[in-house]
Amino acid sequence: MAISQQSSGSSPIGRDTVRIDGPRKVTGLAQYTSDFNFPGMLYAVPVEATIANGKLLTLDTSAAEKMPNVRAVFHRANIGEIFRSTPAPGFDRVCLERRPPFEDDVVRYYGQYIALAVADTFEAAKAAADAVRATYSKEKPNVDSRLEAGSDPDVVFTGYGPVPRLQSHRGDAEAAFTSATVKLDETYVTPAETHNPLELHSTTAMWDGQMLTLYDSTQGVVNMRSVMAQMFGLPKENVRVIAKFLGSGFGGKLYPWTHVSLAAAAARKLGKPVKLVVSRKMMFQTVGHRAHTQQRVRLGATQEGKLVSLQHDYLYHLSMIDHYHEDCGEATPFHYSVPNLRVTFGRARRNIGATADMRGPGAVPGLYATESAMNEMAERLKIDPVQFRLLNEPKIDESVNLPFSSRHYVECLNLGAEKFGWSKRNPAIGAMKRDGLTLGWGVAGAAWIAGRFAADANLQLRDDGTVRIACGTQDIGTGTYTILAQLASQKTGVPVEKIEVELGDSALPDGPISGGSLATSSVIPAVFKAADQAISSLMIVAISTPGSPFLGRKPEDLALEGGRVFVKAEGIAKGVPFSDVLRQANARLVTGAGSSEQTAFAPNPKFSMHSFGCHFVEVTWQPEIARLRVSRVVTVMDAGHILNPLTARNQIKGAVVMGIGMALFEETTYDPQNGAPINSNLADYIVTVNSDAPPIDVHFLDYPDKEINELGARGIGEIGLAGVAAAITAAVHHGTGVRVRELPVKIENLLV
Ligand code: MOS
Repeated sequence: MAISQQSSGSSPIGRDTVRIDGPRKVTGLAQYTSDFNFPGMLYAVPVEATIANGKLLTLDTSAAEKMPNVRAVFHRANIGEIFRSTPAPGFDRVCLERRPPFEDDVVRYYGQYIALAVADTFEAAKAAADAVRATYSKEKPNVDSRLEAGSDPDVVFTGYGPVPRLQSHRGDAEAAFTSATVKLDETYVTPAETHNPLELHSTTAMWDGQMLTLYDSTQGVVNMRSVMAQMFGLPKENVRVIAKFLGSGFGGKLYPWTHVSLAAAAARKLGKPVKLVVSRKMMFQTVGHRAHTQQRVRLGATQEGKLVSLQHDYLYHLSMIDHYHEDCGEATPFHYSVPNLRVTFGRARRNIGATADMRGPGAVPGLYATESAMNEMAERLKIDPVQFRLLNEPKIDESVNLPFSSRHYVECLNLGAEKFGWSKRNPAIGAMKRDGLTLGWGVAGAAWIAGRFAADANLQLRDDGTVRIACGTQDIGTGTYTILAQLASQKTGVPVEKIEVELGDSALPDGPISGGSLATSSVIPAVFKAADQAISSLMIVAISTPGSPFLGRKPEDLALEGGRVFVKAEGIAKGVPFSDVLRQANARLVTGAGSSEQTAFAPNPKFSMHSFGCHFVEVTWQPEIARLRVSRVVTVMDAGHILNPLTARNQIKGAVVMGIGMALFEETTYDPQNGAPINSNLADYIVTVNSDAPPIDVHFLDYPDKEINELGARGIGEIGLAGVAAAITAAVHHGTGVRVRELPVKIENLLV
């Protein structure tokens, strides 16, 4: 391993550091978005369309309006103007459902908002929403789960700009497949999945003249501000978005949904703060979901196990008018060495709510398909699946002919195999037993993007010896507060306990979305530059204040370490606390600002930047009672330098737990009659719970990737989910002999 996890000296970087916001969360002091209340605040409850395709003919709000404590029932005729937001170059103004609520009378998916009841209490608003009567002209909704490509042009417009449907190609994949000695041609299916963070989406909107303030459970306060400014025709300085604590998001909270502008429009009309909390049922309808995918993978190989051809042709569903691209081919072009490759995609429009990013978007369903195909090919070749992957390790990223900034996939596989005990695997189906249970062992690889978004930060050194670091990013539960404290501590020598971290407010310096697993890598240069600038400012105070022991020194002769200013030549023992320097000058604080430049999605990169990893999974199978359990997992991650192994392990474990859900439980089902997501509650939509979660042994290789930032840290929020389902389905096959290619694996699949 590159460097030990225990760094030298007092640096907090690379050390297990408990979350600095933990005490506030466990004592209930942390205020989540819906915990904020304001004088005169009203409650809004949307009215949901009960058809998925057709037109709204009439809306009868008269009974609802007469109910006690009801302030208004809004609809297309009385909500006031809400404009469309527009995409921006770069990464700003992202919105996955651009159509403003109530823009027209067309209903395109079940649950689309058609009216909004506002009342003094939540109960009164809910009763009023239930009392609104709608009539429709109905057409049969198309929620067909068999996907066929629609009539799209060769280049489609997506949320990421124009994307060619021939996504990647090299050599002649078809000819090489035709002449290959050993072939595989299979189709893998993943269902629509719904984000189910514990915290519901929530917005409280209030106006002060032309100033709009939104308390919103968003993974991106800065992006939300830009979108809302456009939707209400305001300069962006007039909009402020606050998100202090989130009960997670999984990508579903990255961008604004229609309830946000509804709350703001209602607050504008009524002149009072309006709170809108999306119900769990609405969470399945109006705030995004992971697209259903159908992916054909064709592999050709030599008898010795060298890949000669890879074709990945995938289809995904999307809503009637949105453009979200589920990029299942993201990792395919570079993960293995293969001279002939083709990746294409097609889209199938359905009467469903907008599709959206969900933890590891694109790559997670994509790697489920390609890694499953790798496992099946290894079996056909009678080569161990770890060995088969090692045989096809690329030297460079063959899709763009660039070196990897840092790739240690081979070491991941070798270390994982060793920790898991893979050499003891008997490849025969159902041949391994323990304590009367049949064992199944499986493996799969993982990859995820790396890079930086733009970020600004501001750092203050204060006369009480504390430090404040501020950035308009947010902590969705992953540990961002703690990471910023560690970074500020690293530069100033002030212990983490004396660092105040301010996040979750668009009034702070612009910070990145909590997305793409890029927040940590993005903020590092900004925080470090802000600290350098604040320290430079401190040194000017030190050399210029009458009576200062450093009076007349040159700034470059001085240093700040361990919270003390000292003359480098004289050593830290003769230094003084920086708080003394400030007090002597009667200065409350010095401040510094810093920025990180965006590198993600940049043109003409010099390196291919990704994280890598793998999972080894054991399942137990009891055919007598058809009980399948995931019994242990070993995960190895090559995600750059790990700044906080404690929170990093927690991210990977959480992602593996979510992967068990992807493999065995999670599936959003649409009713073919009315188009409704039918299992829209946590009783019928199954997520992994504690009793499903096995021991998960997480290892980090910890090689710093210096192309990313000065600490070499990449992200760890999403990669832990990639590959888990492929490893589990491989283990299921090894234990039971049943090859399931359509997730989730159901008990009835195994009763053969
Ligand atoms: Mo992640 S789906 O980019 O929050």
